[in-house]
Amino acid sequence: MHRECSLAVLLALQTGCVDPTDSSYDLDHDDVSAAASYDVCEGFAGGELTGDDLLVLVNKEPQRQLRSDDAPADLVALGPSYFMPGRDGMLRGPAADGLYELIDTAAAEIGVALRVRSAYRSFREQCATYRAKVDENGPEHAARYSALPGRSQHQLGTTVDLTSAGLDWALSPSMGSRAEGEWLSDNAHRFGFALSYPRGAEPITGYAYEPWHFRYVGLAAAAELRNSGLLLDEYLFACAEAEPLRCPREQPGDRPKNRAFIGGHCAGDEDCAGIGAGAFCLDAGTAAASCTLPCSRTCPDRPGLNAPTFCVAVGGSGGLCHSRCDQGLFGQAGCRPSHHCATASRPSPATIADVCLPAQLD
Ligand code: DAL
Ligand code: ZN
Repeated sequence: MHRECSLAVLLALQTGCVDPTDSSYDLDHDDVSAAASYDVCEGFAGGELTGDDLLVLVNKEPQRQLRSDDAPADLVALGPSYFMPGRDGMLRGPAADGLYELIDTAAAEIGVALRVRSAYRSFREQCATYRAKVDENGPEHAARYSALPGRSQHQLGTTVDLTSAGLDWALSPSMGSRAEGEWLSDNAHRFGFALSYPRGAEPITGYAYEPWHFRYVGLAAAAELRNSGLLLDEYLFACAEAEPLRCPREQPGDRPKNRAFIGGHCAGDEDCAGIGAGAFCLDAGTAAASCTLPCSRTCPDRPGLNAPTFCVAVGGSGGLCHSRCDQGLFGQAGCRPSHHCATASRPSPATIADVCLPAQLD
């Protein structure tokens, strides 16, 4: 058996054996849980911290470790369509809301379907993750790419690893020079997230460049962090030391729910009021529900299909008309994005096409 196809890797049934040249490939708990016929946490101890404070500093310092039994009380299951194939997981509620907005907006603004590979990991799951990383690439590599149990931001329930189909669902440094990595680096703060381990920060953070790993710190803190120019660890350290920063701590309920913007998560049409005429909640009642605007044109009728068209990024040169069946945007099997649209007027009655025709261009 090849080294890169070790037992733990072969148990990654959803993804198969990985490219051994992708040294950052990040096995997570789904991959390794079946391999644990012993106590995966043997030899690992937790610290004293809890993750109650959204701005708690967790890093390699012994005094910055989470308790082994610390788990967030407000974890929610993330919408299945936000995951890469074969995965599921949880985040704290506000982080989940921010993540939906982030992923939906990335799809609307750059046309890339970002997907979650890993979200919350318990102390125990981090034991398995870390051990798998050591098995896969050795302890030195593991120390740069995987936190010891109690030291992972994933245990906070506010942290995600993001990937895309274009990256073959891997976690790779090459993401940083792709559209999705650049967009995330420039925009994650708009949704309350921060890049934890930027390029060149390893002497301070102790971890290699991870352009996929984002922690939710709240909208106001993410903005202050961005303006400060500090690394996340530096900012959280300053906040812990009560240095002259505002360090706004978002409380449950502070985050505006269902903020009305194109692509924003919504429960019903009323949550999308304020975006523009005819704004409505696409897929209301599902985890993938999102605010959208209707399209200026209807797509050609197709017998046997029945759904409305709608416009993503309406008004700009990037406006795209999608059909209801075009769930590719939201990660489900389906059709391709379709034609350009510039204005909003909800088609009535609902019409459908799997792909709008070039002739329908505004
Ligand atoms: N990959 C990061 C360091 C973690 O395991 O939390
Ligand atoms: Zn991560």
